[in-house]
Amino acid sequence: MDTENPTICVIGSGYVGLTVGAVMADFGYTVVSVDSDEAKTAHLQRGTLPIFEPGLDELIQKNAAQGRLAFTTDIQGAIRRADIIFIAVGTPSTPEGRVDTGAVEAVARSIGQYVNGPKLVVIKSTVPTGTTERVTRAIAEELARRREGGGHATTEDNAPSAVPADCDVEVASCPEFLRESTALQDFLHPSRVVVGVNSPRAAEVIRRLYAKVNAPFFVTTPINAELIKYTSNAMLALKISFINEIASFCELVGADVQEVARGVALDHRIGPSYLLAGVGFGGSCFPKDTRALDWAAQDLGLEMPIVQAITEVNERQKRGVVHKLRGLLGTLAGTRVAVLGLSYKPNTDDIRDAPSLTVVRDLLAESASVVAYDPQAMRHFRQVFPQTTFTADPYEAVEEAGAAVLLTEWQEFRDLDMARVRRLMRRPVFLDGRNIFDPAAMRALGFQYASIGRV
Ligand code: UDX
Repeated sequence: MDTENPTICVIGSGYVGLTVGAVMADFGYTVVSVDSDEAKTAHLQRGTLPIFEPGLDELIQKNAAQGRLAFTTDIQGAIRRADIIFIAVGTPSTPEGRVDTGAVEAVARSIGQYVNGPKLVVIKSTVPTGTTERVTRAIAEELARRREGGGHATTEDNAPSAVPADCDVEVASCPEFLRESTALQDFLHPSRVVVGVNSPRAAEVIRRLYAKVNAPFFVTTPINAELIKYTSNAMLALKISFINEIASFCELVGADVQEVARGVALDHRIGPSYLLAGVGFGGSCFPKDTRALDWAAQDLGLEMPIVQAITEVNERQKRGVVHKLRGLLGTLAGTRVAVLGLSYKPNTDDIRDAPSLTVVRDLLAESASVVAYDPQAMRHFRQVFPQTTFTADPYEAVEEAGAAVLLTEWQEFRDLDMARVRRLMRRPVFLDGRNIFDPAAMRALGFQYASIGRV
């Protein structure tokens, strides 16, 4: 294995895989990015990204043009050429909320089937504790099968491949903490790089890969690394659910949750981050990972009431939007409701587990008509709720609306001419689900204004 100038294979072209691949190529390594989705790969080969992530398309195009980054569906060829294999495939929720690690396991089998020399496998996907060990075992099983002669591996000319003597494959866990919309920045300047390894040599290889990343390098066991990821996400989601719960309390006693959070955040032991009250958290990680941790505990016979409450409070928060609107309007039936913001947060087109999904579902259930605008996410949203009317800009969305609800704090919404919004609406009921406007200023403009945790 060439550890000085390794060739890297990244399996999975989602947010994490594409970011890892682009940055590693930009560090000067040769990177092959693999995905089984042919259409997606064809787009990437032409320089078109399947996702909206600021700065990533430029970085990919630059490194592809300079010959350091290529996209393929040929997993066999990519595994054979690589010294280091990153697994960055999705680990979605099953309908009941467990983690589906099927894609990770399939990749592990492929590695065992095609591996042709010493490699380091680095798991970037968020995986339940014990997965690194299971992946190690799956690779070993496939290798054993090949050694016994029943293997599936083939060389380029399709002749059965023998297993080389030094087919030493080590598997490490290196969870990724990047956020969507700031993926590159987060990858290059993380708070820490966590690696879970079984040998100092593997840690050293990863340390070298990350040489240009200036962050504490935390080396631990694979199982600890896996749990660090879940604990981090659950802890951050907990902060949000907790401040949302306090927001509900604020509304009953006449307090202002933003002021409360500001005062609390001055305590360095608590800190200011993830204390913005709102319509609840969404995205591909917090909802999925807290549910997964809950299930993992249940499977172990352990009750984790705090982890359960994170999800319960978040569900209540999302459902509270329509509840609040009903309180303001009396009935929602027949009301035209403008929804501003569909993505789960600004600067992404991602609507996975977005509060907008719950809000629009609840609005439709109350027989309201929904007119929505989002700078990036309408394309995805249309696939889920085709009965929604989409508009070209936010002003068109609020025209003749009987109420407006803001769900995502896009800069475009902060910059709105609210006097114009007020004039356009039939009834000026405005529910600010992200607390981006000043209540007094909104009321002075004539809005019947409500927000989260502020009176
Ligand atoms: C998160 C983690 O931050 C990241 O470390 C992990 O790798 C993946 O999951 P991401 O989902 O991209 O990242 O977005 P993030 O910016 O953390 O926000 C998640 C959700 O929490 C959003 O819906 C956001 O609106 C909400 N949120 C965040 C709040 O409601 N209040 C806050 O104070 C912060």
